[in-house]
Amino acid sequence: MDRVLVFDTTLRDGEQSPGATMNIEEKLEIARQLDRLGVDIIEAGFPISSPGDHEAVRLISEELRRPAICALTHAQKEAIDRAWDAVKGAARPRLHVFLSSSDIHLAYQLRKGREEVLEQAREAVALAKSYCEDIEFSPMDSTRSEPKFVYQILQAVIEAGATTVNLPDTVGYTTPEEYASFLKGILANVPNIGKAIISVHCHDDLGLAVANSLAGVQAGARQVECTINGIGERAGNASMEEFVMALRTRKDFYNLETGIDTRQIHSASRLVSDLTGIVVQPNKAIVGANAFAHESGIHQDGVLKERLTYEIMDAASIGLTSNKLVMGKHSGRHAFKKHLDDLGYQLDDEKLARAFLAFKQLADKKKDVTERDIEALMADEIRTAHETYHLELVQVSCGDHNLPTATVKLLDPQGETLADAALGTGPVDAVYRAINRLVGVPNNLIEFSVKSVTEGIDAMGEVTIRIESGGHVYIGRGASTDIIVASAKAYVNALNKLVAVRGTVQAST
Ligand code: KIV
Ligand code: ZN
Repeated sequence: MDRVLVFDTTLRDGEQSPGATMNIEEKLEIARQLDRLGVDIIEAGFPISSPGDHEAVRLISEELRRPAICALTHAQKEAIDRAWDAVKGAARPRLHVFLSSSDIHLAYQLRKGREEVLEQAREAVALAKSYCEDIEFSPMDSTRSEPKFVYQILQAVIEAGATTVNLPDTVGYTTPEEYASFLKGILANVPNIGKAIISVHCHDDLGLAVANSLAGVQAGARQVECTINGIGERAGNASMEEFVMALRTRKDFYNLETGIDTRQIHSASRLVSDLTGIVVQPNKAIVGANAFAHESGIHQDGVLKERLTYEIMDAASIGLTSNKLVMGKHSGRHAFKKHLDDLGYQLDDEKLARAFLAFKQLADKKKDVTERDIEALMADEIRTAHETYHLELVQVSCGDHNLPTATVKLLDPQGETLADAALGTGPVDAVYRAINRLVGVPNNLIEFSVKSVTEGIDAMGEVTIRIESGGHVYIGRGASTDIIVASAKAYVNALNKLVAVRGTVQAST
């Protein structure tokens, strides 16, 4: 088989990135984009870990009918039952059972011997198989395990019904050559390995996750586990876009393909970054802002004469457009909708009306509205959490001889206008203090970043913040041609998420 199955774990391992927690609506939106990308399997969550994860897996299973939907589970009855309950409505359900196999994990975490672990793995897979045909098993920390023990476990779980066996490099420790020979050892020493698909799952602690995954498929694996933008536990997982584009661009070398529609990569990257608040570094391969930018004169000259001189991939192949001018203030609703369709946004009538209004307001301030502006606007207007508080007005006075002062008006859930003012060390601080006086939910601002969406003095600014409250991190985003307004929107956005999770709205004081 020269086709590699793409197993996306953005919603499970990706969500384990510090501070990347997503709500159910956000997970559904990402799952829909993964479907458009053409991934073969979506790992939608770990149902035993929380009621929210269970619900997200259940809803994704019910809605998406093409890809297989996978639920992760410990090798224990309660977790398997919970995982099955969440995923059973899927057209193609999969249960993914994991249990550690390394001596380090057995001694310090499980406090069990190998025989006991072997038996637990066998029994867990047999139970999962009694519910579901498609079963994956992962011996966690496999690359630091005794290979002979891994052979034994794999043989046992395949006998018990596992159809995919995944070899996680849980701590990102292996190297391409070592991983390839580990997989070749499995092919040579597990007698029934022909009955299962071998899968690779690599973490990026040494920056080798994609290289190890590529070595894995060269050695015979036919499923790769990866995430959009490479997000995931600690340094992250293998990045889907890098793996997929490596196979595509070097088809001459690997002679392998995937079912991914690469033109959806840019949208997927942007969506995951927006919803998790994890900004993509500019020099990131494939999806970084500089990935297709040419700075040196010699390179620019070469690309103008012939793109192939310095470009191994076409930006259009990942769905990156040339940031064309879209429209101005006289453009109509019909043309706006057509542009949204072209950019891959499918909106219901209510969201379309909101987006069109926001577009008109932007076009009033900014002469030329480009595709990047529309993307920022969509992230701002459409992907915001259900609003408890709505920002009505922000007004600041600041300068080098002024005490920064802000006045803010919010609409509360009853439609009442709340207004207050505050002083601060700077204009953003003053705005945030004024909002705090109105909302009254204690939190700490732990990250604040602002970036420009496009070039030019009238460019939109995008603000991403993280706030912490009660041990949880909430991300907020806002975009505007005025960065103080964008900062206020980002803060209200984060507070709305906080309030939604807590289920409380405190009266203003
Ligand atoms: O990295 C890992 O070992 C995992 C397993 C749960 C597959 O994510
Ligand atoms: Zn992992």
